[in-house]
Amino acid sequence: MLFELERVRASRGGAEVLHDVSLALPEGSTCIAGSSGSGKSTLLRLLNRLAEPDSGRVAYRGRELASLEVLALRREVALVPQLPALLPGTIADNVGFGPGLVDRDVEVAVLLDLAGLPTAFAERDADRLSTGEQQRVMLARALALEPRVLLLDEPTSALDERTRDHVEETLKELRRRLGISLVLVTHDFAQAERLAERVVRLEGGRAIVADPGPERTSVSTPPAVR
Ligand SMILES: Nc1ncnc2c1ncn2[C@@H]1O[C@H](COP(=O)(O)OP(=O)(O)O)[C@@H](O)[C@H]1O
Ligand SMILES: [Mg+2]
Repeated sequence: MLFELERVRASRGGAEVLHDVSLALPEGSTCIAGSSGSGKSTLLRLLNRLAEPDSGRVAYRGRELASLEVLALRREVALVPQLPALLPGTIADNVGFGPGLVDRDVEVAVLLDLAGLPTAFAERDADRLSTGEQQRVMLARALALEPRVLLLDEPTSALDERTRDHVEETLKELRRRLGISLVLVTHDFAQAERLAERVVRLEGGRAIVADPGPERTSVSTPPAVR
């Protein structure tokens, strides 16, 4: 199992936001869908230890997260945050930053291409990009770590429909080409249906999971209004 959460409670700013969450996330692509404030970002941040639970346990591939070396974990399980936060410098500087810390060179052009950006972007200044382009650079920066798992926090929330479709295609393509597992958080239930092999619904800090079907678990669509 990719991730297992057992009776997890977690707080933000002194208030409990995840209440007794138990979940198993298999290899593949999973969407965690829920409205704003339901605890999606908090849950995602637990998965690479940007946040720690108050109680309960989180395991990654059968090993307690708390027992793993945190930097090694974050290289293998990379998080793309909701708000782009690029460093001053060029796009190439940004994409090469993480690997540069461990003296590894990266093929910036390949990574930009994987993230759906023109390779000519490499030499552009990071502060001269649209939000959608910045989000893609954040994705390229995460891919530079050669992660096995990508955690994506509302990667298309700031985008228009056309750019959103492009990013969704990019994510499906990454899954096909690199076999990376994705855990994607979204408030957009339709997006969850389009992207995920499996959808987990989060409501008020509680996870709602249906019995797994033979092919696909999906509990994300509210009943149609008749
Ligand atoms: N840094 C913070 N300090 C205090 N409360 C926070 C902080 N970040 C989030 N919260 C609160 O925690 C709850 C869950 O937040 P979050 O996990 O970000 O939800 P979501 O990503 O689903 O919108 C919300 O009620 C939010 O207001
Ligand atoms: Mg959030």
